[in-house]
Amino acid sequence: MNTRNVACENAVIQVDNVYKSFGKVEALSGIDIQVESGIVFALLGPNGSGKTTLIRILTTLLRPDSGTATVGGFDAEREPDRLRPIIGLAGQYPAVDENLTGKENLEMVGRLYHLGRKQSILRATELLEQFELSDAARRRAKTYSGGMRRRLDLAAALVANPSILFLDEPTTGLDPRSRISLWEVIKSQAKQCNSVFLTTQYLEEADRLADRIAIMEKGKIIREGTPQELKDCCGGETQIKIRLTDRDQTSHASELLSEIAQGKLNQNSDMGVISFPTAAGTSMLADIVRKFDANGIQLAELGLTQPTLDDVFLAITGHTTEEEAGNDKKEVAGNKQ
Ligand SMILES: Nc1ncnc2c1ncn2[C@@H]1O[C@H](COP(=O)(O)OP(=O)(O)OP(=O)(O)O)[C@@H](O)[C@H]1O
Ligand SMILES: [Mg+2]
Repeated sequence: MNTRNVACENAVIQVDNVYKSFGKVEALSGIDIQVESGIVFALLGPNGSGKTTLIRILTTLLRPDSGTATVGGFDAEREPDRLRPIIGLAGQYPAVDENLTGKENLEMVGRLYHLGRKQSILRATELLEQFELSDAARRRAKTYSGGMRRRLDLAAALVANPSILFLDEPTTGLDPRSRISLWEVIKSQAKQCNSVFLTTQYLEEADRLADRIAIMEKGKIIREGTPQELKDCCGGETQIKIRLTDRDQTSHASELLSEIAQGKLNQNSDMGVISFPTAAGTSMLADIVRKFDANGIQLAELGLTQPTLDDVFLAITGHTTEEEAGNDKKEVAGNKQ
C-alpha cells in the first residue's frame, strides 16, 4: 500500500520518500510509512533490508539523503533537539555500560535526561522491579545474561518516560524462553508508551506484538497491513493437516475427503500426509474422524495449522526470508551482544 505524501493527522511517525545510500549500497530506496498514534508498529525484514538504517534516521542518529521523516510532529533532520526528548531507543546491540551495575546504568541515564539525583534513583528502582532485575540490581552488567542485558537496555530506553519507543530487533539472539518473556515485557510497556516502533526478522514476533506490520525488502516496503490482513491477502489460509498411520491408505483417504476439500487437496503418499485449506475450523475435524473410522483408516495426526507470516513473505516475494538472507545470514545464537 503506498501511503506516500498523504498527510495523516493522527500519524505519530511519518516517513515520506526517504532515500539513504552508503557508498554504492542503497540501503533505503524511497520509504513511505505512516504510524498512527497509540499502536505497535513492526518493520519486518531479513538481514540487510534497511531496518536499522530507518530506525537510525527516525531517532536522529543518521540523516537521510533525501525525503523527510517526522516523529511526534518534529522533523528528524531539522529539529533533532526537540525530537529526542520524546523518544526512547533500544538499539540492535544493547548499549549498557558493562562496568556499571544495573542500578547505576539506569541512574546514569536518568541523570543524562536531567531527572535529578533523587528522581533518577526512584525511577531506576521502579524500572528494575518492572523488568524483574531487582535481585541483580547491584551486580555489574557484565555478569548479566543476554536476556538480562536486553531487559536492562529496554529499561534504560524507558527511563525518561518516552511517548514513542523504538526497539531495533529487541529479541534477536535470545533463546525461545527469554524471547517469550521479553515479549510479555514489551507488551506491557507498550501500553505505557504512546506508540512503539520495532524492527524484527522474526515473523512470529511481528505477529504477536504488532497492530500493523510493514514488510521490508532491499530498502523498500513491499507490503503493509494488520497481521490478519497480511495473512488474508497473501495465501495465509488455515489448513487441515492429516497424517495417516498407514501411508498406503493415502489415496483412499484422499478420495473420502475430495468433496469437503473442494478440489484443493494436497497429498503426499510417501509421507501419508494430506492437507487442504478450510474456513470451517474445528467442526470439520469431527466429520473427518467419523469418516475415517467408518472406513478403517487410522490417523496418526489431525489438526488445524494457522498460517504464519513466513507464508506471507513467501507469497509476496516468491522466496523465504532465509533464502533472501542467503550467505549473509547472521548468527542468532546469542552472540550478537
Ligand atoms: N554505516 C554503514 N556503512 C556502509 N554500509 C552500511 C552502513 N549501515 C548499513 N549499511 C548497509 O545498508 C544495508 C542495510 O543495512 P541495515 O543495517 O539497515 O539492515 P538491517 O535490516 O538492519 O539488517 P540486520 O537485520 O542484519 O540488522 C546493508 O546492505 C548494509 O550493509
Ligand atoms: Mg539491523
